[in-house]
Amino acid sequence: MGSDEKRVALVTGAGQGIGRGIALRLAQAGHHVVINDVVADEAVTDRGAYEVKRTIEAAGGGADVFRADIASRDERAAMVEFVADRFGRLDLLVNNAGVAPKERKDLLEATEQSFERLMSINLEGPYFLTQLVANRMIAWKRDGVVEAPRIVFISSISAYTSSPARGEYCVSKAGVSMAAQLYADRLGEYGIPVLEVSPGIIETPMTSVVKDKYDKLIAEGLLVTKRWGVPDDVAGVVAAFAAGHLDYSTGQRIEVGGGFGLRRL
Ligand SMILES: NC(=O)c1ccc[n+]([C@@H]2O[C@H](COP(=O)([O-])OP(=O)(O)OC[C@H]3O[C@@H](n4cnc5c(N)ncnc54)[C@H](O)[C@@H]3O)[C@@H](O)[C@H]2O)c1
Repeated sequence: MGSDEKRVALVTGAGQGIGRGIALRLAQAGHHVVINDVVADEAVTDRGAYEVKRTIEAAGGGADVFRADIASRDERAAMVEFVADRFGRLDLLVNNAGVAPKERKDLLEATEQSFERLMSINLEGPYFLTQLVANRMIAWKRDGVVEAPRIVFISSISAYTSSPARGEYCVSKAGVSMAAQLYADRLGEYGIPVLEVSPGIIETPMTSVVKDKYDKLIAEGLLVTKRWGVPDDVAGVVAAFAAGHLDYSTGQRIEVGGGFGLRRL
């Protein structure tokens, strides 16, 4: 398969929310999308990973579902093998899958169990999935199979914003932010750009449980752009990166937060 064949993107946690938005946008831009999620039931097509596949195909695009838990070493490896066997190439990896703590608990009481769960899904998962993928991308680029492989990490404003009621989430996302910088640094010599995209308050199933709290904060002026973000706001940045418009910004973070991070007086 030569570099002029259809580009392939792998999006983790793409069965709903931000990952779904990214998958749809990349498919529109002509990628064949591998939709990864830990939840994926072929019999369920009105939501989840198979709904995303169906929607992409209905619009004339191409997609596969690969069920895997990114926190599992074996399942990460199986997913990369699947991509290698089926396509022999990967043009874009989007490390999107992530979870919030099951229960928001104060820093002085939160459990080691929750900390370890978040570290393994939010940080260890993307860190080591990227290691596997990066080694493949280096070889595929060297062999002329892919022209311009790229990697995205979806972090969060929580990487640099203290929320003591979910400290383990903040620490995991700060780790993701550093992982993006490390891979950008290491992969520079191979010409593989890496971008960190840091969403603010985005309307997804993850944030539906804290809707009233954020509605109030937004109404009170927390953001410059006075609305919730939507998955397509994040997907737009990923699509611009996938199209090669941000390659010289490797290692940088782009916040998609409606001005959340702006210092204001
Ligand atoms: N929604 C927001 O406001 C917001 C803000 C900042 C960052 N983020 C980050 O964006 C990413 C997506 O968030 P979202 O709001 O769409 O979340 P979501 O919970 O709506 O969707 C996440 C998807 O990831 C899947 N997933 C969970 N654990 C997985 C695992 N171990 N392996 C594979 N898939 C797994 C879930 O099944 C789900 O389909 C996360 O990393 C999240 O931390 C979200």
